Amino acid sequence: MGLFVLLSLTVLSEAMVMDKKVKESFVLDTVSAVCSYAAHYKDHLKYWCRGYYRDYCNIIAFTPNSTGRVALRDTGEQLIVTVSCLTKEDAGWYWCGIQRDFARDDMDFTELVVTDYRGAHTSDFWSVKGKGLTRSQKTRQAASAFATPLVGSLLGSSA
Ligand SMILES: *[C@@H]1O[C@H](CO)[C@@H](O)[C@H](O)[C@H]1NC(C)=O
Repeated sequence: MGLFVLLSLTVLSEAMVMDKKVKESFVLDTVSAVCSYAAHYKDHLKYWCRGYYRDYCNIIAFTPNSTGRVALRDTGEQLIVTVSCLTKEDAGWYWCGIQRDFARDDMDFTELVVTDYRGAHTSDFWSVKGKGLTRSQKTRQAASAFATPLVGSLLGSSA
């Protein structure tokens, strides 16, 4: 029994998968997060949550409800979250989650980077308030050279 529970938790911990770990966007633009989940979670509540630490994030909205600039759509296979009219204050870490009654919620995260205007590659592009430069930020810095054209096509396809 103990082994079964352990195995289940290991497998189910992959049940919610965010499409991208870092999303780069621009002020006033719209960004989408697509979280794919295992089919048997179709009828569970899903949510969008903000914060670096998964256990302390602040839930912004539960399905099926959308709030203001944040629209949630549950297709039965994916939770699609769309945040419109981005501001720099929207930058940060976000989680999509599946509410589960007898187990830890299943969650996956993305980091949203919001830039002032298209084509900006200045030093404040990467500044993060109150935090030192982490390994993931360095990785992101390395990836930045390739990221900008992708953002255009991502936003174009979500329209
Ligand atoms: C969605 O909004 C309605 C109306 O405000 C509310 O009654 C309901 O509890 C909300 N559902 C969730 C899952 O938060």
